Amino acid sequence: TNGQLYEVLPEELAKHNKVDDCWALIKGHVYNVTPYLDYHPGGVDELMRGAGKDATDLFNDVHRWVNVESMLSKCLVGRLKSGTIAEK
Ligand code: HEM
Repeated sequence: TNGQLYEVLPEELAKHNKVDDCWALIKGHVYNVTPYLDYHPGGVDELMRGAGKDATDLFNDVHRWVNVESMLSKCLVGRLKSGTIAEK
């Protein structure tokens, strides 16, 4: 299943850093979090700290127990292209 996922380059991820077009990389998966922003219990600004980046450390520092894979399964865009590194 994972093999079918779209491979996102760090430079493409980085372009999606606006409130109306926001992607975030969490634990190797890229999510389009735009529709979730208004529902984030931590607020829009907090989530936007991870916009267009590898937000894994930010995410884990605050709530590593949150099941992002399940919560945002419908927002999954793909995975970061292997061998590349996104900005943190
Ligand atoms: C709270 C989901 C990303 C900062 C929460 C809560 C959920 C959630 C469910 C409530 C947790 C609880 O009360 O146990 C998500 C999801 C994310 C995400 C699905 C995936 C994109 C982030 C990022 C940050 C962040 C990148 C940046 C640091 C916070 C903060 C709270 C919070 C500060 C605490 C709010 C409070 O209790 O006052 N988030 N979050 N979140 N989130 Fe996120």
